[in-house]
Amino acid sequence: GNESTVSITVVGASGDLAKKKIFPALFALYYEDCLPKHFTIYGYARSKMTDAELRNMVSKTLTCRIDKRENCNVKMDEFLGRCFYHPGQYDSQENFAELDKKLKEHEVGRISNRLFYLSIPPNIFVDAVKCASTSASSANGWTRVIVEKPFGRDSESSAALTKSLKQYLTEDQIFRIDHYLGKELVENLSVLRFSNLIFEPLWSRQYIRNVQLIFSEDFGTEGRGGYFDHYGIIRDIMQNHLLQILALFAMETPVSLDAEDIRNEKVKVLRSMRPIQLEDVVIGQYKSHTKGNVKYPAYTDDKTVPKDSLTPTFAAAALFIDNARWDGVPFLMKAGKALHTKRAEIRVQFRHVPGNLYNRNFGTDLDRATNELVIRVQPDEAIYLKINNKVPGLGMKLDRSNLNLHYAARYSKEIPDAYERLLLDAIEGERRLFIRSDELDAAWSLFTPVLKELEETKINPEYYPYGSRGPVGAHYLAARYGVRWGDLA
Ligand code: BG6
Repeated sequence: GNESTVSITVVGASGDLAKKKIFPALFALYYEDCLPKHFTIYGYARSKMTDAELRNMVSKTLTCRIDKRENCNVKMDEFLGRCFYHPGQYDSQENFAELDKKLKEHEVGRISNRLFYLSIPPNIFVDAVKCASTSASSANGWTRVIVEKPFGRDSESSAALTKSLKQYLTEDQIFRIDHYLGKELVENLSVLRFSNLIFEPLWSRQYIRNVQLIFSEDFGTEGRGGYFDHYGIIRDIMQNHLLQILALFAMETPVSLDAEDIRNEKVKVLRSMRPIQLEDVVIGQYKSHTKGNVKYPAYTDDKTVPKDSLTPTFAAAALFIDNARWDGVPFLMKAGKALHTKRAEIRVQFRHVPGNLYNRNFGTDLDRATNELVIRVQPDEAIYLKINNKVPGLGMKLDRSNLNLHYAARYSKEIPDAYERLLLDAIEGERRLFIRSDELDAAWSLFTPVLKELEETKINPEYYPYGSRGPVGAHYLAARYGVRWGDLA
């Protein structure tokens, strides 16, 4: 049969995401010989630019892990030779038809598969999808579209977006990215759990006391205030990235590793979640802080943010799954910007050993003596397990030590960027790491009511200094469920 070719069009090619993530990821895939033999990459955006200018832009913004490698320049030139640019409006059938013509020139005699990456603001998603699908879809192969959040800002707007997209595309053609699913340690979560006998049987309320999903960044909304103020940290991080991790963590064993089997289980667990109560949510916003002679700005110092904005830049929440496996186990989430550190991790705190012979060695604070499994998603990927151990010597003193799997020490191969894995999967039609529309609905159903309550009652955020550990309210929330945040212990 005919050989096939894939044309990848980055719609919104001059934007931040395209420059920082998409082009570097495509290049890394090329460098690793993962792209199909025949491929073409098109940048599409409104600004006038020549192919040479696009190539120059791409080469300059190459920030990926490859740029320190041997042979990088040669590969880079080959790669750039396959990159082109087409200027056009996002809602112009005519401009997309011109693109179609150009794509065809590269595809002659081959089955043409087409992938569009919409790296544009959500208010123009539908127009672009309409034009791409009617004027530039493949005549004899597949057409797929990658979209990335925000998918609306509540159940209604998300459902409306889904409905509009489905006028032009089938569910099979839509690849909704949650880039956290492309992260190495998130992918590993199910390997860790389902292929290790020392974990699999323990994964339930019987042995797990609580689970913590923690995201922190040590910088504010610098430059993104306009976007951020419309969404806030709950929509930006919790409703998607942390909830996706929770679903993978807590789902029942899927029938197989097929995308539909996995996503069925994720949807099930999301639908088993108890509605989030307002009192189980704490919100915060960063205020300015001066350290030495550096003044770190408040969130509302951002020119694009209203001075009286109540938008949370920090949130903590307690969630529960009302099913047999997780009944009563608090899943605590915490996400914040402008905190003291940049980190994303999952912490699993286990129960006490019943009738522990060594209880007296722990004094009155038995919580400190329980096992804790930490999955550090980033930076400096690691999985470690806190265990009790005898301090070597003649006495009997116990100590908490770590069994430590430190990726940098154990594996010499670099960890690919999340976008590399996701782009490759989209090209190969592997849907496991993409969000199905019923999953998206379930995620919004969980968060929409409490978001509405927060916004309608105009709850004031707790203010915390830029670079601090966040509002103290997060501790009270955890304490209410007998939990201590593991990252601050
Ligand atoms: C994005 C959020 O989805 O994820 C950003 O919109 C956030 O606010 C980013 O900074 C974090 O991603 P990563 O991969 O840098 O942890």
